[in-house]
Amino acid sequence: MDQNSTDSSADTPSRSLKRPLTITVANNKGGAGKSTITRYLSFNVALRGYKTLIIDEDPSANTTKSMIITKARHDDEPYTMGKTMMAGVRDDNLTDLVVPIIPNLYLIPSHIDFASLPVYLSKKYGVAEPGDPDYQGIEGHKVSVIKNLLAPLKSSFDFIFIDTPPTTSSDFTRSAVFASDYVIIAFQTQADSFDGAIQFIDGDLSELVNVFGAETDVLGVLPNQFAPGGAIDDTVLNDARKRFGEQNLFEHILPYKKRVQSAPRIGITREGYWNNDLFKTAIDPLTDDFFHRLNLVGELND
Ligand SMILES: Nc1ncnc2c1ncn2[C@@H]1O[C@H](COP(=O)(O)OP(=O)(O)OP(=O)(O)O)[C@@H](O)[C@H]1O
Ligand SMILES: [Mg+2]
Repeated sequence: MDQNSTDSSADTPSRSLKRPLTITVANNKGGAGKSTITRYLSFNVALRGYKTLIIDEDPSANTTKSMIITKARHDDEPYTMGKTMMAGVRDDNLTDLVVPIIPNLYLIPSHIDFASLPVYLSKKYGVAEPGDPDYQGIEGHKVSVIKNLLAPLKSSFDFIFIDTPPTTSSDFTRSAVFASDYVIIAFQTQADSFDGAIQFIDGDLSELVNVFGAETDVLGVLPNQFAPGGAIDDTVLNDARKRFGEQNLFEHILPYKKRVQSAPRIGITREGYWNNDLFKTAIDPLTDDFFHRLNLVGELND
């Protein structure tokens, strides 16, 4: 298909990473743009020459579907779905689940059966609530499940991005965040999404760091404006500046771009006028900002 397109010809990275990085885009509320940001940022980072893996931890598998369609745009090989996340967790091995999507971009696919992760973990490790004497032991096993599974893969990639489902304080989100060196806090510029960002920081993130010793930092807070036709909500944005500090916000608010909504149907590509426009006006500035922030926290070599 598009074998000679710019999509397929990955660059060499201009600046290498000091260490491989795992990143989760997080918010406690659904629909904040987590999957959209994960898909486009991973795709663009791969085009810039960084070897990148997406882990789909969402049983709805929407990112898996979008990336398999993306693969079909760039690759004539027929694809049949093999092992997915739940089988990998049961076998305690994710290494044979990796599917190539485009040069430098890989996927570990999800499937609806991954919804049984919490039951599987509870059967294996037990159940405990905060305050129970065995809470830290049991929960400690559960939150570290993905980090342990990623350990053998980590040095093979520059970036691993994890997409999570819209669940608060779930094994999905907590295990993804615990496995991550950085989280990007995404929120739609509407009040409940902003509250979801705060709840995530004050709730799961601080417990994972303070109680379970997660080595996870916030790379930045990324406002995403996608109220259809709506102007950006200045009040929420100002609240975010006050709450997080201007320096912790990404400089480029992700604008409302109807084009991103077509990813599940046509996959991700830079080809064509509207896709090119989307990348030039939204995804490239976001990617530049992402690397700028990684540089600020000392993750890039000179
Ligand atoms: N900047 C944007 N412009 C236009 N539409 C957007 C934008 N960001 C997200 N959307 C749309 O908003 C919807 C929700 O976005 P997305 O699926 O990325 O959120 P999510 O946080 O992953 O949701 P969930 O928690 O349900 O997994 C999708 O239909 C997506 O296409
Ligand atoms: Mg999602």
